[in-house]
Amino acid sequence: MTQRRLFVTTALPYANGNFHIGHIMEYIQADIWVRFQRMQGNEVHFVCADDAHGAPIMIAAEKAGITPQAFVANIAAGRKPYLDGFHIAFDNWHSTDGPENHALAQDIYRGLRDQGLIATKTIEQFFDPEKNMFLPDRFIKGDCPKCGAKDQYGDSCEVCGSVYAPTELHNPYSALSGATPVMKTSEHYFFKLSDPRCVAFLEEWTAAPGHLQTEVLNKIKEWFAVAEDGSGGLSDWDISRDAPYFGIEIPDAPGKYFYVWLDAPIGYLASLKNYFDKTGRDFDAFMADPQTEQHHFIGKDITYFHTLFWPAMLHFSGRKTPNAVHVHGFLTVSGEKMSKSRGTGLDPLKYLDLGMNPDWLRYYIAAKLNGRNEDVDFNAEDFMARVNSDLVGKYINIASRTAGFISKRFDGVLGQVSADGVALLQQLEQALAPLTVLYETRDYARALREVMAQTDRVNEYVAMHKPWELVKQAGAEARLHDVCTTSLEAFRLLTIALKPVMPALTDGVETFLSVPPLVFGDLHTRMGADHTIGAYKHLMQRVDPAQLDALFVAPEPSTPDTPAVLPGGEAIAPTIAIDDFAKLDLRVALIVNCEAVDGSTKLLRLTLDVGEGVTRNVFSGIASAYTPADLIGKHTLMVANLAPRKMKFGVSEGMVLAGSHADEKGTPGIYILTAWPGAQPGMRVR
Ligand code: MSP
Ligand code: ZN
Repeated sequence: MTQRRLFVTTALPYANGNFHIGHIMEYIQADIWVRFQRMQGNEVHFVCADDAHGAPIMIAAEKAGITPQAFVANIAAGRKPYLDGFHIAFDNWHSTDGPENHALAQDIYRGLRDQGLIATKTIEQFFDPEKNMFLPDRFIKGDCPKCGAKDQYGDSCEVCGSVYAPTELHNPYSALSGATPVMKTSEHYFFKLSDPRCVAFLEEWTAAPGHLQTEVLNKIKEWFAVAEDGSGGLSDWDISRDAPYFGIEIPDAPGKYFYVWLDAPIGYLASLKNYFDKTGRDFDAFMADPQTEQHHFIGKDITYFHTLFWPAMLHFSGRKTPNAVHVHGFLTVSGEKMSKSRGTGLDPLKYLDLGMNPDWLRYYIAAKLNGRNEDVDFNAEDFMARVNSDLVGKYINIASRTAGFISKRFDGVLGQVSADGVALLQQLEQALAPLTVLYETRDYARALREVMAQTDRVNEYVAMHKPWELVKQAGAEARLHDVCTTSLEAFRLLTIALKPVMPALTDGVETFLSVPPLVFGDLHTRMGADHTIGAYKHLMQRVDPAQLDALFVAPEPSTPDTPAVLPGGEAIAPTIAIDDFAKLDLRVALIVNCEAVDGSTKLLRLTLDVGEGVTRNVFSGIASAYTPADLIGKHTLMVANLAPRKMKFGVSEGMVLAGSHADEKGTPGIYILTAWPGAQPGMRVR
């Protein structure tokens, strides 16, 4: 078989937050495929990068008071523990803000322009007169034009689900400054996807065998379809954004930047180039080689970008197009969808910190992935059952029940396999060899079902021959040797079939069996009599239900959430139950007196009446925003059951509530809350 040359990527995650479990699932899916290809002797280059550009990251960086470059570098610095922890073997991790991507993006753009596929159009757009910038759809809010729901985003309504243009919103406002946006015109650059050449190319490319899964192609056909009234079909793609924008400058277009989705997929090439440059390989020659296969793993939400824009960009700039785009569904946790910015209750780092085995998760996810773009659910009970009964109870069990006899009775040396053993091993070999096809087509679920079916057969063999009884029978020495040797030979064959999924476990097995790194070709060989194995150490623990309980307990309130920054402020804290809220005793309080605190520029001393007959003394860090005269006689809200806190200036018996951004330094400052007229001191807030 000739060696294949593969260039494999996963989607480039936005550099505005840590990985969530959905990212990890994508990487595990691709990593299994890559490991399988390597076991087949193929040359594989597996790369990824941070998707650095765009308005949300620029705005988040501004909020954090750092440059977007520093912001992205912080996120990038946190990637390694996840990737190492789950044994995800990328060859390179780069950034779309790297110099390679700047050069490649401009190059590809020039190629498209030379083909006459770039057009400019003047469009009218919302502009924030305070921030002095055009507002991305997600940063315009207002009332839904269809149902009237308040505070809806500029592209779609979360209440009624309708989709509209930001200009259709009623009472629009900027989510950045609160200002009412004004309409302003600007020249935008478009990639002419509607050009007949593009349409013809894409109809052919998407339908070519092997490029896309059937269900994905069917979806795309809907996008191509033009209705009788001429609506539908592919539209031109707006690829420019006006300064200020964190992105790559468009050549010969001062003040214009590529929209993040233009340069993001080019980041695949940039990461590969960066890797090749570092390792002394020739990027251009590799990409020009017709033998090179380019494979992208992505989630279903970004299909349009990868199956239409991306191949067209590559083709019309004279480059190689992808050989396949492999689309997966979404991971849900206990049936719940994941929020893009916050993930779910299953925090991948916490999983690792709890000492949970990464190969368990890899196995569980693999057992649920079938190569189609269906969603996959993580269910704690199911997870525990599959790991404990299938992996440990069935597969590991084969070695743990037989290895000890080989070590103790036969000095670790294997023996002869007799006819029934030979038949069992041959049958395993025949059943497991076709798994290469299932790995190739990413039907890991079926591959693992087959491995487990074969594992059952081996366990039946062990149970039938009972080495633990043979050891007690006089004259059964040879049979004991034979049965245990057969079992371990079978265990080795099963291990080959599991290796792409569980690299750490199979590493341990290779050491224990004292065999060189296993490949699929090894299904046709045996360790053989006289082979000496190593000492058996327990290969895998069971999942302890206490670990799962700990994994899903909500983090302590003081634990910072993922550093994702939402448009308009800090990330929303983890969800709490109504009982959690009920623990807070919030009261309406009358500010009876207020004074400056000697020796503090930050604090004010408040005397509060919360209807208890005695007043409370509360220190509050609001001196930068209010003077005592502003506050005396007003009503505010306080946390009345907070443990008293001893401070330098006295004891604080509660806390008043105020709105602010996390840093409190920003211009919006701090705003004390107040109750509507008529509220009485001591009323509970609920
Ligand atoms: N930055 C873009 C991709 C640019 S690729 C040139 C992006 N980033 S993302 O961080 O939002 O998503 C990265 C990948 O994770 C995507 O393939 C996305 O589909 C995938 N997933 C995000 N949430 C997911 C789940 N809940 N489950 C599985 N994959 C999920 O989109
Ligand atoms: Zn609505």
